[in-house]
Formats: sequence, C-alpha cells, structure tokens
Amino acid sequence: MATQVTVKSRAAVKHDVSPLITRDSFTTSLGVIAATLGSAVGLGNIWKFPFLTGVNGGASFIIVYLISTLLVGLPIMIAEIMLGRQARADAVTSLSKLAPGKPWWLVGAAGVISAFLILAFYTEVAAWVFAYIFKAALGGLLSTNPEVTGQAFNQLITDPWQSLLWQWLVLALISAIIILGVSKGIEQTTKRLMPLLFLLLVAIGVRSLTLPGAMEGLVFLFQPDFSKVTAAALLTAMGLAFFKLSIGMGAMMTYGSYFRDDQNIPATATKVMLADLTVSILAGIAIFPAVFAFGFEPDAGPSLLFITIPAVFAAMPLGHFFMVLFFILAAIAATGAMLSLLEVPVAFLNERLGLSRVMATLSTVALLALVGSTAALSNSLLADFKLFGMTMFDLYDFATSNILLPVGGLCLSLFVGWAWGFAEVKAALTNNGTLPNERLVRAVFGIIKFVTPVLVLIVLLNGLKIL
Ligand code: TRP
Repeated sequence: MATQVTVKSRAAVKHDVSPLITRDSFTTSLGVIAATLGSAVGLGNIWKFPFLTGVNGGASFIIVYLISTLLVGLPIMIAEIMLGRQARADAVTSLSKLAPGKPWWLVGAAGVISAFLILAFYTEVAAWVFAYIFKAALGGLLSTNPEVTGQAFNQLITDPWQSLLWQWLVLALISAIIILGVSKGIEQTTKRLMPLLFLLLVAIGVRSLTLPGAMEGLVFLFQPDFSKVTAAALLTAMGLAFFKLSIGMGAMMTYGSYFRDDQNIPATATKVMLADLTVSILAGIAIFPAVFAFGFEPDAGPSLLFITIPAVFAAMPLGHFFMVLFFILAAIAATGAMLSLLEVPVAFLNERLGLSRVMATLSTVALLALVGSTAALSNSLLADFKLFGMTMFDLYDFATSNILLPVGGLCLSLFVGWAWGFAEVKAALTNNGTLPNERLVRAVFGIIKFVTPVLVLIVLLNGLKIL
C-alpha cells in the first residue's frame, strides 16, 4: 500500500515537472531573431510605413520615427520580452506569476482579446494578398489602368465566398505552422522566410530603381521637409512604432518566453528594430520609384497595395513576373506577423487552460473563423452593419491600434517601472550580471519609468480624440 502511494506520487511529481522541462522554445540565437523579426515585419512595412514617410516629410519623418522608437517602441519591446523570459509562460500566466495576487494579469488577458481582434482583420488583408498571388500569376491583374485593377479588387472584396475562403486558407496555413510548435513551426518557418523576404525586396527594389524617372519616387520618400514635423506627425510616428514592433498585447511577451537564457535582450530587440526599419525603407524603395516612374499618385492603405501597385507593375518591363514576386513578398511578411499573433491565444489555452497544442490551435482558429468572418464580410453582406459608425473590419483595426495596444503598452511600462522595480529589471536584462550592459539597463529603465508612460498616454488620448 505504502509503495503504491510512493509510486503514485512520484508519477504525479514527474507529471508536474515535465511540462516545464520540455517547454518548447527557440533553439538558436539566429532563430530568436528570425522569429522576432518575423513578427515585426508585416503588412505595416509595406503599406503603412512607406506612405506615411512620404507624406509626413520623408527623411525628417524617419528621424522622428527613430526617436519615437527609441523612447516608446524599443523600451516596451525590451520590457515585454524580458517579462516573458523571466516568467516563461503565456502572457496571462507570466503576469500573474510576476505579480501574484495583483490584477496585472488582466493586461495579458486584454492581450489575448487583442490578438483575436487584430487577427480578425489582418487575416482578411492577408487573404487578399494570397488571392493576389494567384490572380497576378494568371494574368488577371495585368492592366495599367487603375480603374480596371480597382474593379478586380472590388470584385474580390465584395464576393462573400471568395473573402471567406481565402481567409480560411490563410487560417489553415498559419494554424498548420503553429501546430508544429515553437521551434519546428515558428522558428523553422521564419528562418527560411526572412532571408527570402530580403532577397525579394532587393530584387524588386533594383527593378524599381532602374526605371527611367525613378528619382521622383526617391525624392518623395527621402527629401527631408522639417516643416512637416508637426505634433500630428509625431503622434503618427509613435502609433506606427507601436504597430510595427508588435508591442502592447503580449506577442513579444509570449515570444520572450521562448528566448534563450543567454540571449542579450536589449541587443536583440535593437537588431530587430533596425532590421525592421531596413525592410520598411527597402519597401519604400521598391514601391515609390515605380509609382512615380509611371505617373501614378501615391496612395495609402489597401488602394496602394491592391489597386495602384498592380497597375504600376503591369506598366513595367518584366512586370508580370515582378508583380507575382511582390505579392509573394507581402504574403511572407504577413505570415510571420500572423504567427506571432496566433501564438498568444494558443499559448494561453495550452499553458493556462491545459488544452493540448493541437486543440488550443484548432479552437482558436474556429473562433477566429467566426470573429474573422465579420471582418471578411465587411465589404459584402455586412457592409451596412456598423458600430460606432464603422464596419467590423474598421472597428477591429481602430479598437486595437487606438485603444488596446496603447493601453497595454502603458500598463506594461507602468508595471515594469513602478511595480516590478529596478533590481529585478537589472538582473533580467544583464542576464544576472553576466552582460556588461548595466549603464544601458539604467537608461532603459529610466526611460520606461518616466518617459514612455507619458508619451503613450498622449498618443492614447489623441487616438481617442480627447486631446
Ligand atoms: N508588426 C506587424 C506589422 O507591421 C503587425 C503585428 C504583428 C502586430 N504582431 C502584432 C501589431 C502584435 C500589434 C501587435 O504588420
């Protein structure tokens, strides 16, 4: 009887401990960078950054963006990764582990909700991108007339079945990668895709730059105009830094929980930020010289990506080929970003609620197909269904970018600066004293305690039109 009990309890102990030991994580330092960069690089680099840079003063906007990144984006990114690695758990569990008995875990819970809302519309934009690879390949977009390419786009987004089916295809693809796991799925995929992304960008950039008349595009993108450095441009830059670096909703925390113990977090985050900026600038170089060379007007958002760009490519030599490459590039960028978003609820269901990874992924995707369909159908069946004057698609975008992400970022910087404290931060960011970066850590801590929360609060109030 007694032996039985011992055997039983030993088994119980083993069962309790083994998930900790076998917790999947990124295996190499390069893998860490590929996955984190994969999260940062996304559709934001292709349709947000280049256009916003062009209209907000070119090189001077890039400087403003860099400053916002250094004071807001990077500190929160470092903080999130640090908290994740310290707790080694999903976003909700991480915060409840680091602040037992306190309500900080709610920030993680809000992050899980944000992940659903961002994915709901992001997967639909990705759906259009994937659909466009095939449409472009089959020659369906080969017109230099934006009215014709505009019609092709309209046909796609107003067709409920096409919108849904492409979104489901995207969901199937990312869930297949997520089911494979953190190292075999996310790490391996992003390690292969990121170099390919750079290669495609450079190829398309060279094509664009060698067109006659490319210069005007470079002028639009880079010519500094300091008169455009206004308060509005500052706020735009800060909001962009948030979305670009995937911060404020626990994605970086979840990825941080898979970071290696010997990873230098501030250095890694800085490298990712610089590589992400490089991708954004290269995307601008791939897009605007071509747009101007053929006399098109630069446009923002979906119409740049899905209406202007096909027409631009159709006008250039070898354009059919480069058009397909371009949408493959955009699909790759979107995929890495979606993996980081999907991992947030999956890790939560898996670790917090004890579902298997497969079940966690399938239930997340099932719920996403439901929530996402309200975004997918925003241009067809649900076009007239509006809340706060917005379609569901626009509402999810607005609520996450303008409310949930900044609130999340604000809470996280307050937590790290005021609740968690310097001693913990120093231990975490110096890898327990093994890295000689104490002065840097002091600077990061000072910024996150006093500067970041104030700036984020301003962005938040502005986004809600309170300021
Ligand atoms: N950074 C991605 C982009 O630029 C989007 C993204 C991925 C994101 N994960 C995120 C945005 C988490 C906010 C939060 O497209």
